Amino acid sequence: MRTTVGIIGAGPAGLLLARLLHNAGIDSVVLESRDRDYVEHRQRAGILEQGTVDVLREAGAAARMDREGIGHDGIELRFDRRRHRVDFPALTGGRSVMVYAQTEVCKDLIALQLAAGGPLLFEAEALAVEGAETPSPHVRFRHQGREDVLECDYVVGCDGFWGVARKAVPADVSRVFERTYPFGWLGILADVPPSHDELVYARHDRGFALLSMRSPTVTRAYLQVPAGTDAADWSDEEIWDELDRRLETDDAWTLKRGPVTAKSVTPMRSHVHEPMRHGRVFLAGDAAHIVPPTGAKGLNLAVGDVVTLARALVELRDTGSDARLEAYSATCLRRVWQAERFSYDMTTMLHRAPDATGFDDRVQLARLDRIATARSAETDLAEGYTGFPLD
Ligand code: APR
Ligand code: PHB
Repeated sequence: MRTTVGIIGAGPAGLLLARLLHNAGIDSVVLESRDRDYVEHRQRAGILEQGTVDVLREAGAAARMDREGIGHDGIELRFDRRRHRVDFPALTGGRSVMVYAQTEVCKDLIALQLAAGGPLLFEAEALAVEGAETPSPHVRFRHQGREDVLECDYVVGCDGFWGVARKAVPADVSRVFERTYPFGWLGILADVPPSHDELVYARHDRGFALLSMRSPTVTRAYLQVPAGTDAADWSDEEIWDELDRRLETDDAWTLKRGPVTAKSVTPMRSHVHEPMRHGRVFLAGDAAHIVPPTGAKGLNLAVGDVVTLARALVELRDTGSDARLEAYSATCLRRVWQAERFSYDMTTMLHRAPDATGFDDRVQLARLDRIATARSAETDLAEGYTGFPLD
């Protein structure tokens, strides 16, 4: 098998890259180790930055998002029983975000790819990426019980945190920067309308809570829990009781409860692999970087990477210049580190570390109070949340 761009992984990074390349007339093949049903049903975050919304529209992949997505012009911060709304368009010159689940983005991109794109092979597991430093890198993979080779001009590892593509970067040029947090998120989906019309991020002495949504009838909510917690240890009633406590306010706000349909724990880590390119092998999305979910940057960063890469490949084809391709890793890492910083700031401002002291608590409250009272601090949060422009 031969193609111009071999893409490993059919998460948002791989699927969107295939779509952008298809639209530009560059052929690709996507290899995905799991089956279609699995990829279309895993639960992930659901906030699309303004830039991501714009890219999906330009790529012709936004028809259902524009019908079913819910535009949000702000978030609420809750602390000390107080509520403070951050108004995104007012602070950022008109930028906002869209609530539309990552699984839905993937479903839409898969349907487009199967209808009119290049090959997308499910249950095709990449075993190794070879020849990164040669003009014809290739992917060895297993599909339907047979080993095969995908010969490419370029290989892109969009194979997530556990993928194989990263191994194509030799150990003596790789650098890894990481931080694990001593807590995770217990997340639920519930068949009950959201209790607030925007997302609520709550800092509480008992730990962080987030109230989100998937649709006008489905609530998504999270609780900070100790690392290693088993979701089965929490009954539905205990989860609602804890959300109630952490989201408490001095006014008459109430939390609506309903049947819980899914429950799981997500670990929290920050992780960056540098560089994001070696020879003709490129890394994009979770294959190169992980952010903790506070601020919902994961999907949006993956989108940024593949937009930068697609533009670089188009420029090379159209002008013969590989300047953008050469700059790929540096261009992406600059954006990645801004998102790492933002996610770290949000995480440490809102979560209670197991060894937190009274001093730490007071500093967190002062940071929140600063956002609630100083327009410069509030603008910084709004700009980070709605996302930095793509280049
Ligand atoms: N061969 C083929 N496919 C693989 C292999 C392999 N060896 N290893 C992993 N994959 C697939 C996974 O099954 C998955 O479908 O690569 C895909 C990677 O997708 P994601 O994990 O969704 O990563 P990415 O596309 O970079 O999207 C980033 O996803 O993890 C979330 O929070 C993260 O929102 C962010 C977004
Ligand atoms: C979600 O709805 O899953 C979600 C929203 C905001 C976040 C993280 C996750 O910061």
